[in-house]
Amino acid sequence: MSELTPQVKRRRTFAIISHPDAGKTTLTEKLLLFSGAIQIAGSVKARKASRHATSDWMEIEKQRGISVASSVMQMEYRDCVINLLDTPGHQDFSEDTYRVLTAVDAALMVIDAANGVEPQTRRLLQVCRARNTPILTFVNKLDREVQEPLALMDEIERELGMTVVPFTWPVGMAKFFGGVLDLRKDQMRVFSPGEDRVAGTEEVVQGLANPVLADRFGPAYEQAAGEIELVREAAPEFDHEAFLSGRQTPMFFGSAVNNFGVQEVLDALVDLAPSPGERAAMQRTVHPDEPKFTGVVFKIQANMDPAHRDRIAFLRVASGKFSRGMNLKVVRSGKSMRPNTVVTFMSQKRELLDEAYAGDIIGIPNHGVLQLGDTITEGEALQYTGLPFFAPEMFRMVEVADPLKTKQLKAGLQQLGEEGAIQVFRPVAGSVLMLGAVGQLQFEVVAHRLEHEYSCKARISPCRFQVARWVTADTGEGPAADERELNRFIDGNSHRMAYDAVNAPTLLVEYAPELRAIEANWPKIRFHALREHA
Ligand code: G4P
Repeated sequence: MSELTPQVKRRRTFAIISHPDAGKTTLTEKLLLFSGAIQIAGSVKARKASRHATSDWMEIEKQRGISVASSVMQMEYRDCVINLLDTPGHQDFSEDTYRVLTAVDAALMVIDAANGVEPQTRRLLQVCRARNTPILTFVNKLDREVQEPLALMDEIERELGMTVVPFTWPVGMAKFFGGVLDLRKDQMRVFSPGEDRVAGTEEVVQGLANPVLADRFGPAYEQAAGEIELVREAAPEFDHEAFLSGRQTPMFFGSAVNNFGVQEVLDALVDLAPSPGERAAMQRTVHPDEPKFTGVVFKIQANMDPAHRDRIAFLRVASGKFSRGMNLKVVRSGKSMRPNTVVTFMSQKRELLDEAYAGDIIGIPNHGVLQLGDTITEGEALQYTGLPFFAPEMFRMVEVADPLKTKQLKAGLQQLGEEGAIQVFRPVAGSVLMLGAVGQLQFEVVAHRLEHEYSCKARISPCRFQVARWVTADTGEGPAADERELNRFIDGNSHRMAYDAVNAPTLLVEYAPELRAIEANWPKIRFHALREHA
C-alpha cells in the first residue's frame, strides 16, 4: 500500500479485439459516449467514410483512419479511469496488435452474432490466452437476423476453449428483438432502436419471471426463459479467479449501433476487470504502486497527425507517477530525456498531460530516441520483457523510382521500421534494401506511406527469400568466442545475411530445407524465429 495505490486501483486498461466489421468501431464510439467528451460529429463521419472501403487502398485508409482517430483513448467512468486501446482488425497487422495486447490488463472481444467466431478473433484470442489476459465477450448485432444464442455460446466455448458465463440473455432477434434479460440483476431491459439514443434511458422491467414479459414478448420470451433454464443447469457459476486467468469469459448481448447493452459491458469492465498488476522485468518484478516511475514503449507511430508531422512513442506506465518535465532515462541507450510535451488521449483529442499512473498510456513525441520495447525509468537499470518481433514470412526488394529521392527512402524506411510497420533489412553484400512482412497489406501500406508522408515513390519488387532467422552464437566459451563464431558465420554466409533495424544479424534463405542444412552445418549458431527486444 502506498499513496499511489488508490490511483492504481481505479485504473482499467483494456483493448477491444474483433474480426473486421463485427462492430469494434461502433462499440468504441458508444463506450466513449459515456465519458461525455466524445465529438459525435467527427466520429460518425469517420465511420461513414469507412463504409465505402471497397478496395485494398481504401482498406489501408480505413485501417489508418481508425488507428489515427482512436488508437488510445482515456475516459472517466464511475470513479474509474479507463484506458481503451484500439487494435487493428486486419490480420496483416496482427504483429502490431500483439504488441498492443502486451500493454493491456484485459480485452473486450466483439463477436458478430450472425457470423460467430471468425478467423481474426480466433487468432487474437490465442494471443490473449497465451498471456492469460481476462476476456469479456460482447455479442453484437442482435437487431439483425443472427444465430441462436445457445449455438453461439457453444461455438465460442468450443472454438476458443473458454467457459462462457452469460450475464445477459437476448429475447428474440432482428425485428423481434425485445431486449436482454439480466441474469444477475433479475430484470429485463427493453430494447428500443435509435442510433443517437443515450444510454440509461431504456425501459426496465423488474423480475425475470414477471408475467408482463410473457404477455408483451410472447414466444420470444418463452424461448429465452427456456434457454436460461438450460444455461443455468449447464453453465458453471461465474468464478472471478477463472475470469482473471482467462479460463472463463462473461458474455453480454446487445446492439452497439443502437447503444444497447453497451453500458453493462462498461460496468462489467469496472467491476470485474483487474487494475494494473505487477510486471516482470529482466532484473526483478515491479509493483504498480512503487514510488519510482517506470514504463515501456509498446507502439511507435509517425505522422499520426498530418498537421503535426511527428513521431509518437506510446508508453504504458508500469509503476510510479509520471509528471511532466521529470528527468527520465532510456535504459537501452543510457540517454536522458525530460519530456515536456507528453500527451494523453482523451476521447480522440490529444491533450497535454500533467501526470499519469500505472496502466495509463502516454504519448511522448520524439525524433528517434525511443524505440519499440524501450524501458524508461528514473535511473534504474531495468528492462521489461515480452515485446516480440516475429520473423517475417514475405520479402520484397525496395528501390526508389527517382534516384534523387534515395535519402527520403532511407529516412522513411528507417521510421517505418522503427514503428514496426515493416521490417527493413540491409544486406551485408549488396545495396538494395529488403522489406519483410507478415502480411501482404503491410507492403502496400509502406508504399502508400512512403509516397504520401515522405514524398518518395518506391519500386517494390519480388525477392527470392522466403524465410528469415535472427542469428546469435553460443559457443559455451564466453562472449569473445561467441562474437568470433558469429562473425565467421556472417562472413561465410554474406550472400544471404542482412542487418535489421536494430542491427541484429539475420539469415535469409529461399527454402526451409536450406535452413535445415545450414543449421546442421553450424551447431554453435542459434537461429531465432522470434526476437525479443534486446
Ligand atoms: P469494425 O470496427 O469492427 O470493423 O466494425 P464497425 O464498427 O465499423 O461496424 C461494421 C458495420 O456494422 C457498420 O455498418 C456498423 O454500422 C454495423 N454495426 C455495428 N453494430 C451494429 C449493430 O448492433 N447492429 C447492426 N445492424 N449493425 C451494426 P456499415 O454499413 O459498414 O457502416 P454504416 O453505414 O453503419 O456507417
